[in-house]
Amino acid sequence: MTNPFDARAPDWDDHPHRRRLAAEIFAALERRVPLGPELAALDYGCGTGLLALALAPRVRRVTAVDSSRGMLDVLARKIQAAGIGNVVPLQADFATDPHPAGPYDLIVSAMTLHHVADVAVLLRTFMGMLGSGGMLALADLDLEDGSFHAHAEGVRHFGFDRTELANLLASIGFVEVRCETAARIERPFRTYSAFLATARQG
Ligand SMILES: C[S@@+](CC[C@H](N)C(=O)[O-])C[C@H]1O[C@@H](n2cnc3c(N)ncnc32)[C@H](O)[C@@H]1O
Repeated sequence: MTNPFDARAPDWDDHPHRRRLAAEIFAALERRVPLGPELAALDYGCGTGLLALALAPRVRRVTAVDSSRGMLDVLARKIQAAGIGNVVPLQADFATDPHPAGPYDLIVSAMTLHHVADVAVLLRTFMGMLGSGGMLALADLDLEDGSFHAHAEGVRHFGFDRTELANLLASIGFVEVRCETAARIERPFRTYSAFLATARQG
């Protein structure tokens, strides 16, 4: 089956709004999550690595996971061109493929959750991959009316209700669940917002 993100990968980074959004999400992440050279991190739905490559200099290692071969090919070229040694690309969809055992100190994900059909199952998977006290940081859209995506293929959720997501995280056993606005996304006819939800493995 073809992955719709494969075709979009080659010019993904050419859109300044995507680079800006990733930078704002990383800034929110830095405010909320203590980073350090001892941390093993995983970025789920890493795409071309806009977040993973920002994170890499601040941690020991980033496992950069995506289901799209095309996205990972772009990331691999960026890793090679910049001589980056601590970002490890991995093609996987944790709904169907085995996941690395971990333990990870930090799992991040930016703008990917709304593509995942069963979010609760994925969050339970993350819980099992995090080491004791490990941190989860999820950035995605607040609830929207479906107008955000020009390419609706693969969109499973029109954003998320922060309270519902926080309750879901708590019900799975995450503690210290917090949500904050990470970015505002201006479009000609509407402004959308993206949150960063952080939580600790309990
Ligand atoms: C909107 S893009 C975001 C990419 C990147 N995080 C960024 O901020 O630029 C969503 C990414 O999630 C990946 N993706 C979608 N569903 C996935 C799944 N079930 N498992 C792994 N990756 C997935 C897509 O291939 C795509 O690269």
